Amino acid sequence: MKVVAFNGSPRKDGNTTILINHVFRELEKEGVETELVQLSGKKIHGCIACYKCFENKDQRCAVKDDVANECIEKMIKAEGIILGSPVYFTDVTAEMKALMDRAGFVSMANGGMYKNKVGATVVAVRRSGAIHTLDTMNHFFLAGQMIVVGRGIGVGRDKGEVEKDEEGLQAVKALGQRMAWLLKKLRG
Ligand SMILES: Cc1cc2nc3c(=O)[nH]c(=O)nc-3n(C[C@H](O)[C@H](O)[C@H](O)COP(=O)(O)O)c2cc1C
Repeated sequence: MKVVAFNGSPRKDGNTTILINHVFRELEKEGVETELVQLSGKKIHGCIACYKCFENKDQRCAVKDDVANECIEKMIKAEGIILGSPVYFTDVTAEMKALMDRAGFVSMANGGMYKNKVGATVVAVRRSGAIHTLDTMNHFFLAGQMIVVGRGIGVGRDKGEVEKDEEGLQAVKALGQRMAWLLKKLRG
């Protein structure tokens, strides 16, 4: 069983990565394989509305100049998907939005590629906008007929600051435990 996590932060190994790694630790304790994809430093851009995915129906984005298809392939292969983002102006980062638009549209064009997979969201926030950011990512799961298991929020600004947010860390650990439990119920 595998869970793949996508971190939309342009800051590599920052607070969102730290939070995702806490979720991963709990999943791994239960024997779930994990993989982290940090969008930082990778090329990904928004959907250009060519609608070719609806013509081709090949589970791929027709625009092949960035990492979108690599990410889509990882989503197809995993049983669980984590979307993680820092809050940027009360919402997800541009990188995360690009991934959701591309991967989500290709899924719709192919009848729901992630249907019944388990989804979880993770957010790093300095002060405000965490709930809106979670909502944005949850819509990707809900539109894709996935099963949303929960969410985790960690508070911090500078790299590593979320490690001081005890309550946030407890929340992401609990999320990992619940995700493992649900995956085993569904696929074990
Ligand atoms: C362009 C930009 C916009 C931000 N907007 C918000 C915001 O609206 N609300 C907030 O609480 N924090 C905001 N932040 C702070 C980040 O969410 C916070 O530093 C977070 O921990 C970064 O996570 P990372 O280390 O994974 O990138 C913003 C940071 C940047 C760089």
